[in-house]
Amino acid sequence: MAVLVSGASGFIGSHTCVELLNVGEDVIGFDNFYNSKDDIPKKIEKLTGKSLKFYKADMCVKADIHKIFTENEIDSVIHFAGYKAVGESVAKPLMYYGNNIDGTVVLLEAMKEFGCDRFVFSSSATVYKFPAVSPAIKEDFELTATNHPYGTTKMIIENICRDVSISDDKFACALLRYFNPVGAHDSGVIGENPNGIPNNLMPIVLKAVTGQLPSMTVFGNDYPTPDGTCIRDYLHVVDLAKAHVAALNKVREEGFSGCAEYNLGTGKGTSVLELLTAFEKVNGLKIPYIIGKRRPGDAAEYYAVPEKAEQELGWRAELNIEDMCKSAYDFAVKNA
Ligand code: WQD
Repeated sequence: MAVLVSGASGFIGSHTCVELLNVGEDVIGFDNFYNSKDDIPKKIEKLTGKSLKFYKADMCVKADIHKIFTENEIDSVIHFAGYKAVGESVAKPLMYYGNNIDGTVVLLEAMKEFGCDRFVFSSSATVYKFPAVSPAIKEDFELTATNHPYGTTKMIIENICRDVSISDDKFACALLRYFNPVGAHDSGVIGENPNGIPNNLMPIVLKAVTGQLPSMTVFGNDYPTPDGTCIRDYLHVVDLAKAHVAALNKVREEGFSGCAEYNLGTGKGTSVLELLTAFEKVNGLKIPYIIGKRRPGDAAEYYAVPEKAEQELGWRAELNIEDMCKSAYDFAVKNA
């Protein structure tokens, strides 16, 4: 039986395919390459020495998804596919609701039709209401009603999964709430390479140090934190990929039922300046940056409490901020 990975050529999807293949899983991937390169499937095969069955497909096209389920024996799905740029989602909400929500419903309907009821969903810490009662975020903390259309699609899809698990006691689902994924596979063959202008910190740092941007801006140093800059829980993408292998094993367990949420982070907060300093030190360079104004909507500080994932999934992050910064830079240099 195979695991189907949607968004399999994306940043986290591609790293997860590598880890799934490394543990001997039979993996089928699909992507529409909206936000990824079409040479990634071959790179995954080169990295692992394993074959990856891959389809160019769009999750919103029922015929595409039906074809994949018809041609393969699929027992589980790991769902990454979706637009994910916060800024773009504010400018184009209908594109985000149409693609992310409709596409997920198409996928879940196909799963039901073909008797596939094990589901792992790529959710996000953005579903939490900030500021929270504590910066140490637990899975039972209050969720936000909405913050931006991207985050709202994550909320809606989580609710859809919870509703499906109520309607069908065979549907087993893990909702993985990522904190801040960064870094790259240590081969330098795959990494974060978004199309267009990135929003997130690490891709912007990489553009600044590779000359694609003259400099970058630290969005505010007047927050109530030790060095005045925002604190986040940065997580190495390879650790995150391994968490998906653990979550897949969990939803396949006989005794597992319903829908469970898991925070995926290191449990350690790192400020923007601390990340920049680590990046400069481990890569032996200086990042051109200025201190600018706060970015609207940013919370001063939050990081994961990862105990539930450790206890129930047997997973904990192993790599540190230096590993993240080194691997991210090595990938950027090799793929400039
Ligand atoms: C991190 C810190 C910025 C850029 C978002 C999404 C979340 C998740 C991760 C998908 C903040 C600062 C950034 C820059 C800066 N994505 N920064 N200069 O905002 O924590 O979370 O990405 O699930 O859903 O909301 O991540 O990387 O955008 O910012 O100073 O040029 O870096 O202010 O403090 P964020 P980020």
